Amino acid sequence: MRIAETREALLDTLKDAPCETREFVPTMGALHEGHLSLVRAARRNGGTVVASIFVNPTQFNDPNDLKNYPRTPEQDMAMLRTEGVEVVFMPTVEEIYPADAEREKENEWDFGELDKVMEGATRPGHFQGVAQVVSKLFELVQPARAYFGQKDYQQVAIIREMVRQARERGETWAEAEIVECPTVREEDGLAMSSRNALLTPAHRAAAPDIHRALRLGALKAGELSPRELERYVRAEIERSGVLKMIYFDRMGPQACIAVQAGDVRLIDNMRYDN
Ligand code: PAF
Repeated sequence: MRIAETREALLDTLKDAPCETREFVPTMGALHEGHLSLVRAARRNGGTVVASIFVNPTQFNDPNDLKNYPRTPEQDMAMLRTEGVEVVFMPTVEEIYPADAEREKENEWDFGELDKVMEGATRPGHFQGVAQVVSKLFELVQPARAYFGQKDYQQVAIIREMVRQARERGETWAEAEIVECPTVREEDGLAMSSRNALLTPAHRAAAPDIHRALRLGALKAGELSPRELERYVRAEIERSGVLKMIYFDRMGPQACIAVQAGDVRLIDNMRYDN
């Protein structure tokens, strides 16, 4: 496994890679089985598997959240090596964001309503930050396919829209196919997330209520109005007294939820047929 810390090193490493087709798994590290499922999906497609580890400051609107985000680089490297990843890109913040305000301005996207609702409404600027870093990484890696988890349902929609707009702009990376992989869950139903490591024992014990409430909501979706359904799901989430629902909303067929568990924000989603 080759590790590149600069753009130049990455480009050199990619030149020497055994296969020209690149399968890309962008991450912020603190890897878990969810990330590994993306790597395994990437490996099945046979190209050179490239992973990135970069805690992207521009997608955090809360400085404490950025400061506390779990960082486990050595463990991450060992996991990626075991999974047979060929190239890991692990840049510094300066490497990704050299001081060049004009270029940053060009790298803005118009997502309309898509980045104003749900995560976008409660984390202003978050999706611009995601698009900013993912477009920079795509430009460097030039992936044939890039892999994202369905847990971040709205993020996947944003990235698909970004790639659509990149096609109109004639970007070199605009043919990247976005592959959405199923959410991986703990045995008790909690969606795997790097943030789960930050939960207190009381919040961790209550956190499976998120998936449980989504499932119960699915059973009631046909008979309750959207408002009643939201109230019902909130009551199920908040029954332990330690979780607080931030929003419960629909994006097409998908019911999406965000929950505050102490200092930790958790999201999840589920397809509803009604
Ligand atoms: O989903 C994530 O881990 C991040 O948002 C991503 C896509 C790696 C961009 O920083």
